Amino acid sequence: MYRTHTCGELTLKNVQNEVTLAGWVQTVRKFGAITFVDLRDRYGITQLLFNESLNPVLDANPLGREFVLQAKGKVQERSNKNPQLATGEIEVIVTDFTVLNKAVTPPFTIQDDTDGGDDLRMKYRFLDLRRNAVKRNLELRYAVNRSARNYLHENSFMDIETPFLIKSTPEGARDFVVPSRMNPGQFYALPQSPQTFKQLLMVSGYDRYYQVVKCFRDEDLRADRQPEFTQIDCEMSFVQQEDILNMFEGLIKRIFKDVKGIDYPEKVDRMTWEDAMWQYGNDKPDIRFGMQLCNIKKPASVFVEKSDKPELVSGVGFQVFDDAETVLAIAVPGCSEYTRKQTDELTDWVKRPQIGMKGLVFIKCNTDGTYKSSVDKFYPAERLKAIADAAGAKAGDLVLILAGAEERTRKATSELRLEMGKRLGLRKENEFKLLWVLDFPLFEYAEEENRWVARHHPFTSPKPDHIPVMINNSPVIDNAAEYLQHPYANIKANAYDMVLNGNEIGGGSIRIFQRDLQEKMFAALGMTPEESQHKFGFLLGAFEYGAPPHGGIAFGFDRLCSILGGSESIRDFIAFPKNNSGRDVMLDAPSSIDDKQFQELQIKLDLKQ
Ligand code: AMO
Repeated sequence: MYRTHTCGELTLKNVQNEVTLAGWVQTVRKFGAITFVDLRDRYGITQLLFNESLNPVLDANPLGREFVLQAKGKVQERSNKNPQLATGEIEVIVTDFTVLNKAVTPPFTIQDDTDGGDDLRMKYRFLDLRRNAVKRNLELRYAVNRSARNYLHENSFMDIETPFLIKSTPEGARDFVVPSRMNPGQFYALPQSPQTFKQLLMVSGYDRYYQVVKCFRDEDLRADRQPEFTQIDCEMSFVQQEDILNMFEGLIKRIFKDVKGIDYPEKVDRMTWEDAMWQYGNDKPDIRFGMQLCNIKKPASVFVEKSDKPELVSGVGFQVFDDAETVLAIAVPGCSEYTRKQTDELTDWVKRPQIGMKGLVFIKCNTDGTYKSSVDKFYPAERLKAIADAAGAKAGDLVLILAGAEERTRKATSELRLEMGKRLGLRKENEFKLLWVLDFPLFEYAEEENRWVARHHPFTSPKPDHIPVMINNSPVIDNAAEYLQHPYANIKANAYDMVLNGNEIGGGSIRIFQRDLQEKMFAALGMTPEESQHKFGFLLGAFEYGAPPHGGIAFGFDRLCSILGGSESIRDFIAFPKNNSGRDVMLDAPSSIDDKQFQELQIKLDLKQ
């Protein structure tokens, strides 16, 4: 037997027990003739004490960091206890030990505050995974996994695996493709999600399906995106949107309870996509804090009907606001005393290429009731007050105003709101706010191709009363500049996203389940009947054999874990992640393949520069 106990379980109850431990040497400390070793395994750290009598053996077998050690001995109470450690009240007096394996000196310290940089830790990820911080993240991931599976199992969902080698049907992200040796010149694609398979399973009668499943997308990476990531993917038959919202609100609440011990009491808030865009400039708003966007110029935009505020800025000769399509203000609480240096810094911040604005206008709502603004000379104090009031600013607040083209300005103001929220500590790590965003547009306009694309995916159904709009109108866009006037721009989808603290953690929809409506959808996206038959004939065919009404959702498992764990990067919650260029630096993948492999695949490489 290699061990009788783990390194995390011995306490005062075990004093006088004869034990055997096995683990990795964390530290070796010599005190005169005595040697202390901290032995580490997955469960904790136990202090080993080597008496003088073992010195000759230790001299012959010197211990180094990360050596794999087996030690036998007797548990005794420690004189100087360590309250930080679960085993901190005891130590093991070693009587005998064996070095099971030696280790070369690791390239960084295996400790919480390691000296290893990101790249080095990724290269030696197997060592990084020994660190507590990373281990805790993987433990949290496993807890979320278990909790989700328990809930879904209790609700009659069945875990069914779907294939990874499938047909390439790029829509949304790019596919990763795999050449087929047995079918030269032909390629499989790795699934971006099991979407069509889960729908086929509904046709097959498995009315509650789930899978914790890898998805593959060849897209540009960010902190919250990986080329291969995991979804908790679910589908249900004979359901309407309300059934799905309730079922999966239940799932997330269960995860909160099991993993974080949080009772999420209220019903999860709901907001339409339009309200989210109007109030927060963002379809995944962080509702932990207010600072809502206020439109202070009558907009000529999709939101025209939302403009209940009077015109506040045009027509006094301030060209920037006169020329702008949209002028948006936010009231930042308690910042009226910002110095020139601070407002200049904010101006630079909005001018950064990522934000892309030309400038920033501010109004300081002083506590003595006066107003000070960068546009004082255009607007009298009453007007500044009217703008500040409209934005919901109180004495002591700072109003920040951005102006420009609708889409960019809305996005920039949303970014500025989030940044100010962060700077003011309003985005608290341990506060969790869920939100359903509903009623998304069914289509998005793709300017380069002058056509409609599915905002969610092509299997999402329109709201029932919008179906006639889709059926009775041609998708052709005659005047690109006026695409917003096209009837398709206003068709809403039976789709929903779940948002947690400003992150999209899940999304889904009620699906189309009739062949003719699905064909109409493909046509709306610019596919010829032949193309849709070639790409999705299997699904269209299946819909003719008794497809039940169905709908579903998929949660971004890695994302959910990283938010629950208080990290911005999903990489921290993936055992073997890729870096920002999609590389596995440990394996050095992707890499070239042998000539022999090319020959077998009958592929000749002709890389374009
Ligand atoms: P969607 O594309 O919205 O829906 O994906 C669902 C959720 O997966 C997460 N996610 C990602 N996480 C990490 N890296 C990525 N590259 C990445 N891309 C997406 C997000 C997202 O909310 N088949 C549909 C679901 C359905 O309709 O049922 C789908 O895949 O958290």
